[in-house]
Amino acid sequence: MLDSKYFTIVTYGCQMNQHDSERLAGQLKSIGYEYTESLSEANFVLVNTCCVRESAEKKIYGKIGELKTLKASNPNLIIGITGCMAQKDREKLFVKAPHIDLVLGTHNVHQLVELVKEFEQTKNHVLAVWDQAERLAPDVPTIRKGNISAWVPIMYGCNNFCTYCIVPYVRGRERSRPIEDIVKEVHQLGLEGFKEITLLGQNVNSYGKDTDEYGDFADLLQAVDQVETIERIRYMTSHPRDMNEKAIEVIANSKKICECFHLPVQSGSDTILKAMNRGYTTDYYRELVAKIRKVMPHASLTTDIIVGFPGETDELFKETLEFMKEIKFDSAYTFLYSKRSGTPAATMADQVPPQVKQERLQQLMDAQNEISLAINKTLTGETVTVMVEGPSKNDENRLMGRTGANKIILWDKQGTEKIGELAKVKITTAQTWILKGQLTT
Ligand code: 5AD
Ligand code: SF4
Repeated sequence: MLDSKYFTIVTYGCQMNQHDSERLAGQLKSIGYEYTESLSEANFVLVNTCCVRESAEKKIYGKIGELKTLKASNPNLIIGITGCMAQKDREKLFVKAPHIDLVLGTHNVHQLVELVKEFEQTKNHVLAVWDQAERLAPDVPTIRKGNISAWVPIMYGCNNFCTYCIVPYVRGRERSRPIEDIVKEVHQLGLEGFKEITLLGQNVNSYGKDTDEYGDFADLLQAVDQVETIERIRYMTSHPRDMNEKAIEVIANSKKICECFHLPVQSGSDTILKAMNRGYTTDYYRELVAKIRKVMPHASLTTDIIVGFPGETDELFKETLEFMKEIKFDSAYTFLYSKRSGTPAATMADQVPPQVKQERLQQLMDAQNEISLAINKTLTGETVTVMVEGPSKNDENRLMGRTGANKIILWDKQGTEKIGELAKVKITTAQTWILKGQLTT
């Protein structure tokens, strides 16, 4: 009898990477590998990497170092590196870390089975990094994490070339999936019991722009909204420049699309936005937010902001801080600018010293925490509808669910709630990141 072979995947980075890991896991399962959470039990460890910021890369190199020790005690261990860092560093990874067996680029995810077989036969380093993607990523078996929410990619790549960002170099040009394939997949996921789907893309609003065949993002949203087997639709990430009135209208009139807008503004200074090549001004962004809030007053608005972009003076940073206070985001992901070699910003003059960046980040986070708490406090006393997701992380007698606006709500379990179904909770306590309440139905 053959012993079982075990695999594990360590995933860094965005949702697209998380979803790629589901496609990698499905392929490994199809050739007889079983999943394990434990690195030491695994015969095959795959690290799905991110290179959007240096901090991610450092962490990943730390993990790769850890695997060297593991391989020393288990010489048959196969180690694969995939994702954005694999795409960027390619064969350099074998030089830096010869204990790596397989390097698989972002356009080669679907080839895992043949590459593992190649390695098993040759026992030599296997490198598969295409410069460009095939028009459409071929279907592969997928094992989804969780059973309520599922990710569905709608487009791959990015054509924007924001001057700080490495993504267009490692994820390639924009390619949209056919609308029929997406609708079919969403329908099927609903039949399998999933309740919520998140449409994924580096820049979802550019959906369909690479072809005349599928319509645009608003058309896609409208089509997915008609799928009867699912209950909630989310999407990410949007580019403010490409979020148009047609899409806003479709969302406002939809049955299932969450009124949740993640619109990364990146900076509140027009000078910096221009240097970032973002393609909009703060006035444009203000108007966009006003349009959304006019038709959907309860919509939630979240953002990404980078501090310390080259040339960001104290004055320009203050503009961002003021802008944040003016717009009042529900929450904001704030990042220290990280130099990515090969991008235009890496060689720009007036790079900001680390200490200054750190101080600015802290100021921004403090301001945002205050705003988030104030917004959450306005919800106390209200009854909200949540989708029950499961026990809270810290207390199994408490349940956790999220509202359509993506607010995390915790309440004491009553026993009548069903995972994956909607419930009504009256908010009693507001905190910066979560809200607590009591079940009312
Ligand atoms: N440095 C810091 N943050 C970055 N992001 C992208 N590139 C960089 C970089 N070089 C941030 C942007 C983007 C988010 C996913 O990551 O804010 O929206
Ligand atoms: Fe990077 Fe800009 Fe593309 Fe987003 S839109 S992935 S920030 S280049």
